[in-house]
Amino acid sequence: MKRTEVRTLLKRTDFGELINVKGWVRTKRSSKNVAFIALNDGSTINNIQIVVEINADMETLLNHVQTGAALSVDGILSESMGSGQKVEVQAQHIQILGEANPNEYPLQPKKHSLEFLREKAHLRFRTNTFSAIARVRHAMIFAVHQFFNERNFYNIHTPIITGSDAEGAGEMFQVTTLDLKNLPKNEDGSIDYKKDFFGKSANLTVSGQLEGELAALALSKIYTFGPTFRAENSNTTRHLAEFWMIEPEMAFYDLNDNMDLAEEMLKYVIQYALDHCTDDLQFLSKRQQDEEKNKKANERSMELIEKLRFVLDEPFVRLTYTEAIQILKNSKPNKKKRFQYLVNEWGVDLQSEHERYLVEKHFKRPVILTDYPASIKAFYMKQNEDGKTVRAMDVLFPQIGEIIGGSQREENYDKLYAKIKALDIPESSMWWYLETRKFGSVPHSGFGLGFERLILFLTGMTNIRDVIPFPRTPLNLEF
Ligand code: 4AD
Ligand code: MG
Repeated sequence: MKRTEVRTLLKRTDFGELINVKGWVRTKRSSKNVAFIALNDGSTINNIQIVVEINADMETLLNHVQTGAALSVDGILSESMGSGQKVEVQAQHIQILGEANPNEYPLQPKKHSLEFLREKAHLRFRTNTFSAIARVRHAMIFAVHQFFNERNFYNIHTPIITGSDAEGAGEMFQVTTLDLKNLPKNEDGSIDYKKDFFGKSANLTVSGQLEGELAALALSKIYTFGPTFRAENSNTTRHLAEFWMIEPEMAFYDLNDNMDLAEEMLKYVIQYALDHCTDDLQFLSKRQQDEEKNKKANERSMELIEKLRFVLDEPFVRLTYTEAIQILKNSKPNKKKRFQYLVNEWGVDLQSEHERYLVEKHFKRPVILTDYPASIKAFYMKQNEDGKTVRAMDVLFPQIGEIIGGSQREENYDKLYAKIKALDIPESSMWWYLETRKFGSVPHSGFGLGFERLILFLTGMTNIRDVIPFPRTPLNLEF
């Protein structure tokens, strides 16, 4: 018989039909004459209840129906009299597809810590929390593509292996086929990359932006959605060594257009989640409340769905870095020295404690900061007339801090060239980028949204390692 997915079954009302359902056992409860199996197949957060009349044959079989076992069940779709579900299946025939020995299977029906589940990343998809996150992630991937497609943006695949450092931060993973135990050397002792696979040194990309700009300067509006890699040794709850980034790039857009697009995109995908992920968000909301039940009332997060609606309702606050520094300097936590990094002077880089203060305490809504000091931003950002600041924008979110980083790009050849020289960036790795400013250069802008940071926000999870199936962080490469 053809299998029906649980999410479809739960919506059906044609009771009395014979159906087949397959999935993994979440729990089993037995009384003298009847057993109840909660079966889940990942198509929804909800389980379907399988009701089994216990007779001699079924009794032996039920001994093998353990949490984690995979079953195929033929039975009658029935209206449920029990509370909690409308539909159930009266089992006629049960086949065990794969057993799960309870002495060995790690996911027993009790609460497991997220730390424990990170060590069981090969099985954690089978928990409610991680299957919910996986479905929200999928919905967001889809929503991002839909958003851009509806607005005539073209999706561009930018390279994963590159010869340049787009962010100029030197946090790259090298790619080589050289024998590390026997490296070819130049006369001065340096490594002879001419003998390497590409005849030059190569890295995993930190951003698709530079190549994205090349495409935008012909196609007008493009976006990339790819993996990016950063070898920053920061073991925080917001950093991964491998993460996914969405990078739109638009010709003829100035910084204001760029901010409008960023705000519109974030609101669009959040609305999409509210419209399409109701069951999963409700589960995640309850999970977050359980998790925080021992916290003081004023330390608890806003209820998840309320928080998402809240972001949709208000326009994001827009202000300059200089204005933000004034606010931070005069803020209570700064004066009382409660910030770990005190804000004393113009020019300092903002830490996430500062970003979160602005968003969560001062403005109480998302904030877009613009016009940062040139010295703390990447080389490609458009230089302002003041000679000190650049047309940068960071979108700051509650609980997350920076969720988007972007800018208007420097389109003037001489200014960009001078900057590249001043920063000692090798022209040999940037000549093609520079050429776009020689031929038909136009004002243009773009930004990067950290996909996992978006998922953190949407799911109310607190560690970025829990919103990507297989996190890569320093000293962590198990799965
Ligand atoms: O601010 P970043 O470094 O900007 C860029 O890479 C630009 N090339 C984007 C552009 O203008 N096209 O990174 C963009 C976003 C950050 O705001 C953050 O959300 C995320 O990427 N991000 C990370 N997410 C997880 N782990 C990390 N190590 C991250 N580094 C940045
Ligand atoms: Mg940034």
